[in-house]
Amino acid sequence: MSFPTIRHRRLRGSAALRSMVRETVLTVNDFIYPIYVVHGTNIKEEIRSMPGVYHFSLDLLEAEIREITALGIPSIMLFGIPATKDAVGSSAYDPNEIVQQATRLIKQWAPELVVIADTCLCQYTDHGHCGVVHVQEHNGTADVNNDESLPLLVKTAVSQAEAGADIIAPSNMMDGFVTAIREGLDEAGYTNVPIMSYSVKYASAYYGPFREAAHSAPQFGDRKTYQMDPANAREALREAESDVLEGADFLMVKPALAYLDIIRTLKDQFDLPLVAYNVSGEYAMVKAAAANGWIDEQKIVLETLIGMKRAGADLIISYHAKDAAHWLKG
Ligand code: PBG
Ligand code: ZN
Repeated sequence: MSFPTIRHRRLRGSAALRSMVRETVLTVNDFIYPIYVVHGTNIKEEIRSMPGVYHFSLDLLEAEIREITALGIPSIMLFGIPATKDAVGSSAYDPNEIVQQATRLIKQWAPELVVIADTCLCQYTDHGHCGVVHVQEHNGTADVNNDESLPLLVKTAVSQAEAGADIIAPSNMMDGFVTAIREGLDEAGYTNVPIMSYSVKYASAYYGPFREAAHSAPQFGDRKTYQMDPANAREALREAESDVLEGADFLMVKPALAYLDIIRTLKDQFDLPLVAYNVSGEYAMVKAAAANGWIDEQKIVLETLIGMKRAGADLIISYHAKDAAHWLKG
């Protein structure tokens, strides 16, 4: 059968009909909102390339947390700018550093809010890489040493769990990080703290604004020996497969917009909850075009987020989460 018996427009005739046949829904429950915390007092400083996103000192953080919970956003992801950096990222696992402090406070203010800790070293190392850097003997070039980085990540994860983090989200793309962190958390007694693995993280230019915001740009070279090549899709399956076998509780694809095919592939292949990270550069592009009056921000954002869900994301980490929560209410 075909036209004129079949008419696709029949199901589009009214708003009510369209909503009855809608396949994908976006709700505030889908969102994870990223927050940047800094040392000092009375700081709420807008990030230049991310209008509407701020650095918060802890004394101004409570109001922000109240706003987030009032909007019904169930979860946040914490990023910190530490007081000091060194070669091994010691402040990442300092129990009194900014992320650990912020976590303890937030869990007091809003015990129900799910606090996710980003577990990586790049904000904390003076060279800006996500692990320990070594000059390799065989070719004389500097690279991140996989196995020596793992114990530092484990210490970071455990200190975040001690501070009260509800979920540990390792983002550094070392091989074996899920196994190492799972063992470390279990030994420390945190057997019920889930791991949200940044399973498939591409070496992407879309992280530009984040690196400015988090002061975490690599001081030499790039992250291509540990983050994935944007050209590869089958490799994403191998990355995700390892994380599943190592005991990850969530999988993630990052960035989101240029990688919707990867989100769909992972969704079809694995049963774990799947997270899409709508990263800083994706946010910055929309905000810049909106500020120029070139696009309708609200429509573009909601269309983009529903696209990520339709592709297969169960959850979306997004700097748009607060605005989107408002719009979904209204
Ligand atoms: C660090 C990390 C990055 C992001 C979150 N954690 C990127 C990177 O520099 O490799 C990106 C977040 C964003 O762009 O919004 N491992
Ligand atoms: Zn990193």
